[in-house]
Amino acid sequence: MRDMPIPSDHPLLLRIVDDLATHGWSQQNIFLPEALTRALAAECHKRFREGELKPAGTGRGAAREVRESIRGDHIQWLEPGQHDACDSYLEVMDNLRTAINRGLFLGLEDYESHFALYPPGAFYRRHVDRFRDDDRRFVSSVVYLNEAWLPEHGGQLRLYLGGDSEYDVQPTGGCLVVFLSGEMPHEVLPASRERLSLTGWFRRGGAL
Ligand code: OGA
Ligand code: MN
Repeated sequence: MRDMPIPSDHPLLLRIVDDLATHGWSQQNIFLPEALTRALAAECHKRFREGELKPAGTGRGAAREVRESIRGDHIQWLEPGQHDACDSYLEVMDNLRTAINRGLFLGLEDYESHFALYPPGAFYRRHVDRFRDDDRRFVSSVVYLNEAWLPEHGGQLRLYLGGDSEYDVQPTGGCLVVFLSGEMPHEVLPASRERLSLTGWFRRGGAL
């Protein structure tokens, strides 16, 4: 059975839109339903075991390369129509896209997303989610799929909020973080255990 997606006028989505408008980012600790989070975690593990997740690269097109000194996660892009839980997740994120467009008139046209698995010790150095030659990524999202995460496991998402201000997000299952892709430097700290997530980008139209 498919989980009920969160409709685009759900108060949770309106709160995220409000946070984005006011602060440029939002964290919702209880976002994805538990059953959906568990199903997505199982699917991510399965695909990793079967070798479907590949070492992530940096840059795009000819500038793309794999550098573990920058990022050490393994990823696989989601395609619709392959798996019920993935489709439910894409539906929720599409409803969030609609809510953001209604509230902020951003004209976000689509959403791309991948599973990410960081083996113990892997990290992603400080960066901004925008390619030099493609500025369509406008809002970044991360949903975590980890059961019972504790601060001593590490693996926090560190957001650089401007000035000297930093904020650490614990990658706890069901938690969602969104932020403006071009304006929020961030990094993933190394963890002592495997760290699973679904990362994605709402994109505007563009000439490319
Ligand atoms: C990314 C990223 C953050 C996280 O994939 O670009 O910054 O918490 N991920 O997994
Ligand atoms: Mn990033």
